[in-house]
Amino acid sequence: MSARIIPIVDHHYAASVPSVPADTGSAPQQPTDRFQRPLHDLRISVTDRCNFRCTYCMPKEIFDKHYEFLPHADLLSFEEITRAARIFMSLGVRKIRLTGGEPLLRKNLERLVDMLHGLRTPEGLPPELTLTTNGSILARKATLLKEAGLNRVTVSLDALDDAAFRQMNDVDFPVAEVLRGIDAALAAGLGPVKVNMVVKRGANDAQILPMAEHFRGTGVVLRFIEYMDVGNTNGWRMDEVLPSQQVIDRIHAAHALHPLEPHSVGETAQRWAYDDGAGEIGVISSVTRAFCGDCNRARLSMEGKLYLCLFATHGHDVRALLRGDPRSGLAPVSDEQLRAALAQVWTTRDDRYSLLRGTAAGLAQRAERRVEMSYIGG
Ligand code: GTP
Ligand code: 5AD
Ligand code: SF4
Ligand code: SF4
Repeated sequence: MSARIIPIVDHHYAASVPSVPADTGSAPQQPTDRFQRPLHDLRISVTDRCNFRCTYCMPKEIFDKHYEFLPHADLLSFEEITRAARIFMSLGVRKIRLTGGEPLLRKNLERLVDMLHGLRTPEGLPPELTLTTNGSILARKATLLKEAGLNRVTVSLDALDDAAFRQMNDVDFPVAEVLRGIDAALAAGLGPVKVNMVVKRGANDAQILPMAEHFRGTGVVLRFIEYMDVGNTNGWRMDEVLPSQQVIDRIHAAHALHPLEPHSVGETAQRWAYDDGAGEIGVISSVTRAFCGDCNRARLSMEGKLYLCLFATHGHDVRALLRGDPRSGLAPVSDEQLRAALAQVWTTRDDRYSLLRGTAAGLAQRAERRVEMSYIGG
């Protein structure tokens, strides 16, 4: 096995080129990491741009007109993304989520959806294909996406009240347009539609009950996310986190809830159902109840860096393998080499930041430069 690890620091994030094992044939069918976690979800970020400036994700003071977004040539092409996804599927990936920034800002995204929909698992099935969007242009895109093979969408929405929503997105975007996008997704058959609300104490927690009451009985699954310390720019403070238990208590006081069993291992959300049959909600509690133990998610950035955790400080430069890398004299690798290199990367994974948060190791990781949510897409 060659032990080539070449650190490359660009104006974005540190990454190294994965080494390609000499014996590519011995890569496992279903690699597991150091904590025996398999690879199941691949989250692909297709752009670092967004038309919103949510304060907890892309604060205006940093993501302003001087901020350097990536040039188009640095982005993986749809062909490169599809090739990487095909190899990931041979290593266990069954679910693919497209994210951003705002993924619908990437031109002709439906073409990528169509290409990914054409992929097959070793059992001959297409991947489960989903997308996270801020919903701002979903009304225009929902039918096209469905026709291209998208299975479902998740819409980020942090408030129902128009003034509160405009404040959260910080670009004065009206809530009615996002609600229209959600309706279009339901009408196009992109269900079950999920709505994700990041709860920031003092900013939008007054919207918890109005949001719950709006989506009760509609079939939309509303999920409340604890505000997290992702990246280095949002000025995260623990006292702005509202623990999920309090979210549940507040809703339960108005509409009785009972817990549901998880759908699958490694799920992010704990599910709750209304006693009166008006549907379910979820809470995603990365801060107060870490779910790293079963985390089976890998993240591929728009420029082809692979991250093994949302809080990663270091990426693996998959684009260098796909395209070759003149800086290290590396030629493009074959599918078999790519597969073996990715399997090896996953095998060495020991990430579990949310479990370590607050410990010395977690604090040391927090002190380093970590990827931003707008770069890695939730
Ligand atoms: P579904 O299959 O629709 O249930 O998707 P999901 O919950 O796996 O993904 P989604 O993108 O909807 O996740 C919702 C939110 O949970 C994200 O926006 C993040 O805030 C958070 N989240 C997702 N994955 C992780 C993870 O691996 N670690 C942590 N700490 N948070 C995560
Ligand atoms: N904490 C929790 N969730 C976040 N998101 C973005 N930043 C944060 C954060 N700091 C969520 C958004 C969106 C997804 C892309 O990530 O709400 O649903
Ligand atoms: Fe854009 Fe989503 Fe980040 Fe808001 S949370 S700035 S919508 S990427
Ligand atoms: Fe997975 Fe990292 Fe999130 Fe833990 S903190 S669940 S390891 S992405």
